[in-house]
Amino acid sequence: MDEKMVDALNSQLNAELYSSYLYLSMGSYFESEDMSGFANWMRVQAQEELMHSMKIYDYIIQRGDRVILNRIESPPTEWESALEAFEHVYSHEQKVTGLINQLVNLAISLGDHATNNFLQWFVAEQVEEEESSSGVLKKVKMANDSLSGILMLDNELAQRVFNPPAPKE
Ligand SMILES: [Fe+2]
Ligand SMILES: [Fe+2]
Repeated sequence: MDEKMVDALNSQLNAELYSSYLYLSMGSYFESEDMSGFANWMRVQAQEELMHSMKIYDYIIQRGDRVILNRIESPPTEWESALEAFEHVYSHEQKVTGLINQLVNLAISLGDHATNNFLQWFVAEQVEEEESSSGVLKKVKMANDSLSGILMLDNELAQRVFNPPAPKE
């Protein structure tokens, strides 16, 4: 691949690892607040982000290029409330969507159709990521500081499970 494309994919790999770190940090925050369902949602989300980073890791290698791992930024550790945390999740996912779009723009400008095709999985994934995070955000807003509402939502979020991707053929 063009060196610019390899560098940009390596940066995205780092961004996905950061996302995983961010959600693990939010999970730890929720554990400390005894909100184990919210913590579970974050744990699953962190696993998804790790899966995203491995998808990029594998793709760079598949193209015969070199994965370079850089330092991962420290995530925040405290949030005011579930509302603030989920506002952060949603805005973070919107930011990631912007990064993916920039990668697609670069692939197109380089005429790298294979990478553009690879990235389309992430384009679709970001639609789901924004939908799921804004969905939980809406529910947190509806619970509106009512303890019973938050407890009900905590029970609901406890149900989320990680679905590992199907093995590659
Ligand atoms: Fe991701
Ligand atoms: Fe994400």
